[in-house]
Amino acid sequence: MALLQGKCLLLSRLLMLLSSMTPSVSSHSRHYTAPSVTRLTDLFSHVSIDQAFNKVFGASNIQLMSNGSSAYISLNKTSGSGLASRNKYYYGFFSAAIKLPAGLTSGVVVAFYMSNAETFPHNHDEIDIELLGHDKRNDWVLQTNIYANGSVSTGREEKFYLWFDPTQQHHYYSIIWNSHHIVFLVDNIPVREFPNNGAFSSTFPSKPMSLYATIWDGSEWATHGGKYPVNYRYAPYVASFADMEVEGCVSDPRLPSPPCSKKNPSSVDPVEGQGFAALSEQQLSAMKWARSKLMFYSYCKDTTRFKVLPPECR
Ligand SMILES: *[C@@H]1O[C@H](CO)[C@@H](O)[C@H](O)[C@H]1NC(C)=O
Ligand SMILES: *[C@@H]1O[C@H](CO)[C@@H](O)[C@H](O)[C@H]1NC(C)=O
Ligand SMILES: *[C@@H]1O[C@H](CO)[C@@H](O)[C@H](O)[C@H]1NC(C)=O
Repeated sequence: MALLQGKCLLLSRLLMLLSSMTPSVSSHSRHYTAPSVTRLTDLFSHVSIDQAFNKVFGASNIQLMSNGSSAYISLNKTSGSGLASRNKYYYGFFSAAIKLPAGLTSGVVVAFYMSNAETFPHNHDEIDIELLGHDKRNDWVLQTNIYANGSVSTGREEKFYLWFDPTQQHHYYSIIWNSHHIVFLVDNIPVREFPNNGAFSSTFPSKPMSLYATIWDGSEWATHGGKYPVNYRYAPYVASFADMEVEGCVSDPRLPSPPCSKKNPSSVDPVEGQGFAALSEQQLSAMKWARSKLMFYSYCKDTTRFKVLPPECR
């Protein structure tokens, strides 16, 4: 937990900087009909949450359905809460159907992410989906980010509005991470692809990671750079996680790293094989749709922050 908080603090500092540069966007409806795409989330079975995850903090704020189908994690004035996968993974497909708390949620962060900061405090990797609460305008923000080998001084954030109200029902938030690329998906629509471009291997996460589902207080940065902190009058804030899919290569510390064979990937890791190596034309065009309509910040366009843009942006 101390480490988790350390991570949050570090992120806070970076993000305060970032959010102060993000233009504010006025309220309007963004409820579009999304293009149809292959439903990757239909390919794998759901894990039992109580069998696949441990409570890592705020245990009294976590409610698990006894059949393992869903979990309610909450934030109140006493504590946030979080689950971590029992296994560590080296590549895979990681997905959850999440329903976010309704009402005023400024400062609240719901995070579905992978990290190995516990094992590698100085050169950790991280793949983040963070859902950032809102002031009264009702717009949850989706933020994606990647750190590799301790690259915490270069935040690779991209921010999006969603094309639906994420508080009305569950929606799928998923991560593909394999040797070819990292892809972030919302309801199976890719919103961001980060290729594993050999030229910049130090920017690609390459050590086994745990998967986390957390809710916590991001008052200092999450909503308009910290202008709107968490208002505990409306607590508890409850996020529901269901339909969790964790399909990939389980890292076995007794095996040499990387633990999964690339020569015969399909036998150990379905997400390394065909169908996951590249996005289809249909997925690429859906991604173009999502990015043109809903992305409002990309680090690759932030020339105020970066005098020299990170290599993959050029
Ligand atoms: C688990 O329990 C919930 C609530 O009782 C129910 O809606 C759901 O269908 C159950 N799921 C499974 C897989 O049994
Ligand atoms: C937060 O929730 C926990 C668990 O339900 C409870 O024990 C605690 O008293 C709550 N804190 C506040 C400030 O409501
Ligand atoms: C990752 O970081 C470690 C320690 O800082 C360094 O020795 C190593 O060369 C780095 N690896 C890559 C691929 O950049």
